[in-house]
Amino acid sequence: MAVGRRDKSSQLSNRGSRIAAAIGIGVVVGCIFAFLFPHGFFSSNPPAQIRPLSNSNLQVDSAPCESTEKINMLKSDIMRLSDKNVELKRQVRELNEKLRLAEQGKDHAREQFMVLSEPNKAGPFGTVKGVRTNPTVTPDESINPRLAKILAEVAVGKELIVALANSNVKPMLEVWFTNIKKVGITNYLVVALDDAIVDFCKSNDVPFYQRDPDETIDSVGKTGGNHAVSGLKFRILREFLQLGYSVLLSDVDIVFLQNPFDHLYRDSDVESMSDGHNNMTAYGYNDVFDEPAMGWARYAHTMRIWVYNSGFFYIRPTFPSIELLDRIADRLARQANAWDQAVFNEELFFPSHPGYVGLHASKRTMDFYLFMNSKVLFKTVRKDANLKKLKPVIVHVNYHPDKLPRMKAVVEFYVNGKQDALEPFPDGSEWQ
Ligand SMILES: *[C@@H]1O[C@H](CO)[C@@H](O)[C@H](O)[C@H]1NC(C)=O
Repeated sequence: MAVGRRDKSSQLSNRGSRIAAAIGIGVVVGCIFAFLFPHGFFSSNPPAQIRPLSNSNLQVDSAPCESTEKINMLKSDIMRLSDKNVELKRQVRELNEKLRLAEQGKDHAREQFMVLSEPNKAGPFGTVKGVRTNPTVTPDESINPRLAKILAEVAVGKELIVALANSNVKPMLEVWFTNIKKVGITNYLVVALDDAIVDFCKSNDVPFYQRDPDETIDSVGKTGGNHAVSGLKFRILREFLQLGYSVLLSDVDIVFLQNPFDHLYRDSDVESMSDGHNNMTAYGYNDVFDEPAMGWARYAHTMRIWVYNSGFFYIRPTFPSIELLDRIADRLARQANAWDQAVFNEELFFPSHPGYVGLHASKRTMDFYLFMNSKVLFKTVRKDANLKKLKPVIVHVNYHPDKLPRMKAVVEFYVNGKQDALEPFPDGSEWQ
């Protein structure tokens, strides 16, 4: 109401420009809403500013507009309105994204409701669904109030990107956060494992968290190579989940090209990028094992899938997720030669069997073209005219030891449009 009155008085004082504005906005808003919300997104509750604008539409006939001054005014109004048009389009995009997320949440809630509510009769054919979206844990801030405070500031929608870094990876960390910033992501956090990284984050305005000294674990963090730091990763990650946050865990050998939070499904305990390089290897297939001596039964069918990459996965704060982290951390602590990525996958995929209780967390493989590993990029995508046009959400330089130059080449290719930036590199690594 107040908005309507204000618009009317300014209309009287500056009639010409208001008319132009009215026509412009009327047309633009009409087009946008007719296109995006054919069934009337706002039909039950039209926003206040639309009514006075359509009133002024009626006054077009009586408005004299002959002077050049007025024409110039109209021109500048048109410019202003096209800016406004851009802004409105952006708002519509954001609203659509919110709508999509809300519907995603609604589906998950319905799924949980169906399974958890009594009575548990199965219902007709085709209507029955198991739960993959497990309920989240109740946040417990008492386990780490200082981290809880940081997360409250940094996270958006109770989720954030987290990376661990010590001085060994400083140059890659720089590429990592530079591209995160460029994409416009604000909800990310570096777990700084030494003082040099703390200083580096401070001087680059990068949100960080430094843990309280913990003798047994931190000696690993400061001096450790890749695999030792990985064990630490799962223990630290647990606290984020216990505090009620979903974490998109990211190694630092990753270039962000779009906001990953616009491309998650959020329906599983673990949603991970794959080490696979095509539909079969990334999403699973029936691999037939041949044993001719068995004659008629020579073919045995096996299930295969390329491992999930433990350097980039989204994990929801649920009981199966936390149990997964605990199982991994426990095995890495007890088995000296265990490789964290192998352990991560074994815990995720092996079923219960005699003497073993499986985890049974729900899992989802990310789209391997959107969440792209460096084998897919260097072996396939860069040689394919169509695939080259696709912009991934992230590229993970996981398959190649010359990480930093390849990360920089990825930035040149996808961000700066340098078409031949990926050419100098061989498909695989050069050393055997
Ligand atoms: C791979 O899977 C996607 C859907 O996940 C499908 O659209 C595409 O056609 C498949 N490609 C091939 C080569 O089978």
